[in-house]
Amino acid sequence: MKSLHDQFWQHQAQTTSSPIGLEVERAEGLYIYGTNGKQYMDMISGVAVSNIGHRHPKVLEAIRKQLDSHLHVMVYGEYLQTTQAQLAEKLTCNLPDPLDCVYFVNSGAEAIEGAMKLVRRVTGRSKILAAHRSYHGNTMGALSISGNETKKSAFRPLIPDVGFIHFNHLEDLQKIDATTAGVVLETVQGDAGVRLPSAEYLKAVKAQCERVGALLVLDEIQTGFGRTGSLFAFQQFGVVPDVVAMAKGMGGGMPIGAFAAAKPHMEQLTHQPMLGHITTFGGHPVNCAAGLANLEVLLKEDWIAQASEKGNRIAAHLNQHPKVKEVRHLGLMFAVELENFDEVYRLFQYCLEHGVIGFWFLSSNNSFRLAPPLCITTEEIDAACAVIQAGLDTL
Ligand SMILES: Cc1ncc(COP(=O)(O)O)c(C=O)c1O
Repeated sequence: MKSLHDQFWQHQAQTTSSPIGLEVERAEGLYIYGTNGKQYMDMISGVAVSNIGHRHPKVLEAIRKQLDSHLHVMVYGEYLQTTQAQLAEKLTCNLPDPLDCVYFVNSGAEAIEGAMKLVRRVTGRSKILAAHRSYHGNTMGALSISGNETKKSAFRPLIPDVGFIHFNHLEDLQKIDATTAGVVLETVQGDAGVRLPSAEYLKAVKAQCERVGALLVLDEIQTGFGRTGSLFAFQQFGVVPDVVAMAKGMGGGMPIGAFAAAKPHMEQLTHQPMLGHITTFGGHPVNCAAGLANLEVLLKEDWIAQASEKGNRIAAHLNQHPKVKEVRHLGLMFAVELENFDEVYRLFQYCLEHGVIGFWFLSSNNSFRLAPPLCITTEEIDAACAVIQAGLDTL
């Protein structure tokens, strides 16, 4: 058998010519352990996935229990499966009215695809508006409503009838008109470098959608499951979307996503045409078991309530450094703005060599990215920030 290195380089499709290349042995809580014997503080959570830490014991227990019961048994939506139904109830109980119905999928991009189809089906209109610099995923629909032109141009033609507005610009809201099916926004723009909207803006978007009969879809794929200091970020802005898309931190490390809406809206997917949206693996029972345990842990622990304070502690550490131009964050979702990508990459490399994993952004090349697990302790925050500060000293 070939070495892990050769298997990866020779037979596994690459996404870049210079992958990070960390050889993973195991992971636990905040830490990833490499085959090189080193321990790394995972300050990026696999990009906002392991919000409750790697391999949380409750998630492992729920997965094991489900393994002893059944794996996949039927395409999504036909059979009654306990962990699916329990997760649907628990999730919708923790969403505001009227978001009482959830459709399970396998990933963030799929949640966006489902949401895009839903707004078209409910309104009978086709136009979808999204924001410049947005990121909603890499399938053709999600890519069509993403704002990064460099990443899109090689794959055109994308889906028609998509328009763009400037995020957090009230002047653009008149573009939402009676031809608009839906407006899709990240509640906090992630890949654009953690750009926060004002509550006034999000409320005005919702009001304009209501005025013209369009639906507001909020993409909480990165911001959801406690990342920003509330279960979903929109809860901090006094607005309730018509559709919410989620994934990433939803499965405690397992692949699951969903879009949620009011039951009368979701019922539109059952007729004209029947089976208006289908998936084989969506709502896989093992992933739903993990998702349920993940949600129960989040609701039981104080981590969501502590995210804001922990975030402020990281910001206070990093803001002190003269190389840092700006720290943008909500809870534990961070962009640390430096001079340029060269500095970001050198800081990333320094941190990796010294046992701290950070990352960068696709659409904000001068910012260093952090999204630590919510379970991180203040001592761990201080230790990770000491490494980052030492890395900043070398720039
Ligand atoms: C805001 C947002 N939407 C959608 C996606 C796509 O999710 P996935 O990679 O699971 O398809 C991502 C992934 O980074 C995201 O950050």
